Amino acid sequence: MRVRKGDQIKLKTLLKLFFACLTLFFVLFLYLFWTLSSENESRFMGEQFTNVGQIPTEAVVYNRNNIVVAVVACGNRFEETMNMLKTAIIFSKAHLNFVVIADENLFEKFREKLEEWKILTKDTFSYKVLPVNFPVNEAEEWKKLFKLCAAQRLFLPDILKDVDSVLYMDTDTLFLTPVEKVWQFFHKMNSSHIAALAPEHEDPNVGWYNRFARHPYYGKLGVNSGVMLMNLTRMRTFQWAEYVVPIYKKYKLKITWGDQDIINIIFHYHPGKLYIYSCMYNFRPDHCMYTSVCKEAEKEGVVILHGSRGVFHSDKQPVFKAIYQAVEEFKLGIDSIDIFIETVDAYLQNANNSSCGQVKNIFLKNLKKYIS
Ligand SMILES: *[C@@H]1O[C@H](CO)[C@@H](O)[C@H](O)[C@H]1NC(C)=O
Ligand SMILES: *[C@@H]1O[C@H](CO)[C@@H](O)[C@H](O)[C@H]1NC(C)=O
Ligand SMILES: *[C@@H]1O[C@H](CO)[C@@H](O)[C@H](O)[C@H]1NC(C)=O
Ligand SMILES: *[C@@H]1O[C@H](CO)[C@@H](O)[C@H](O)[C@H]1NC(C)=O
Repeated sequence: MRVRKGDQIKLKTLLKLFFACLTLFFVLFLYLFWTLSSENESRFMGEQFTNVGQIPTEAVVYNRNNIVVAVVACGNRFEETMNMLKTAIIFSKAHLNFVVIADENLFEKFREKLEEWKILTKDTFSYKVLPVNFPVNEAEEWKKLFKLCAAQRLFLPDILKDVDSVLYMDTDTLFLTPVEKVWQFFHKMNSSHIAALAPEHEDPNVGWYNRFARHPYYGKLGVNSGVMLMNLTRMRTFQWAEYVVPIYKKYKLKITWGDQDIINIIFHYHPGKLYIYSCMYNFRPDHCMYTSVCKEAEKEGVVILHGSRGVFHSDKQPVFKAIYQAVEEFKLGIDSIDIFIETVDAYLQNANNSSCGQVKNIFLKNLKKYIS
């Protein structure tokens, strides 16, 4: 085949152009590849850093107007914690902020699931996942005190330096009303109150502290620490951390319930610094397993359910298990509250015979306000 000279020149320019473009693409590709991979690398290093369980990489700042729910989850507490947070989302109208302090093996799981929920619920909440951090010498010993990581909350004023206040929730708790209902107690507390808690018992005949404790405790029957409003600003001013370690050292061999006992001892000596709210804000099997003893819950319904004694996962208290199961099955962003309440109602049918089942309406009372 013969090619004319004019065409040959055209072909050459075309080829040159083609190679110029190719080089440009190649350079661009290299550049993109390099920036992306270095970004990944730094992200990866960030994770590694936090996984070691050191200082959080991101600042956590919440002021007095932010509603912050804090929880500490180690070991096998992932599902339980997510169910608690789920109930916070289901009922609340306010924008919520979650601080989840987690073991390194749960870290990514929390981030993934919370990110998924954030999208499903159209950004009704914000969250931070932070590594467990015991700013003391015997960190491992503190970590294992009572339930794994439970003592972490004693150090929240120091760990969350830029957070004004939190509602600290045990992982085995569930909201049956909006978070706001508990948060409002911050406005009822006076300027001396650094925290708010519910009593451990209502009835001295079955109370634990008054019968068995070998250390000082708050008031007549002690306090339960499962649902705790903490004004971290005031706790820092009080120098809370300065009390924790010496008290632990002194009573180490006498305490049974770990961090809760330490809290009881501190408030024994500073009773004016603790605000007490009713048992309906921290309703446990103890409140109905013999007879119903939480009178406020009978009148106004259970506000927060606390499945202590492992009752969310055993058959000992069918009411507690039934509600937990309904929460677990609830699909956030898909199911309506009506469906949730119907499910709870249906599961409670099988709890008739238990002692807590005798007063099952106190569990439904607040939920029924939501039926549309
Ligand atoms: C916590 O205490 C500080 C200092 O007294 C106060 O300014 C702040 O409003 C309190 N936070 C809440 C949520 O009440
Ligand atoms: C706040 O209330 C407690 C009782 O709970 C009381 O001992 C304390 O003196 C009060 N503080 C102020 C500043 O009123
Ligand atoms: C439980 O009691 C309710 C009435 O309080 C009754 O309608 C229901 O059928 C009972 N459920 C079972 C399983 O017995
Ligand atoms: C409840 O007790 C009744 C009789 O006391 C019995 O017939 C029924 O099967 C029990 N129901 C459940 C769910 O245990």
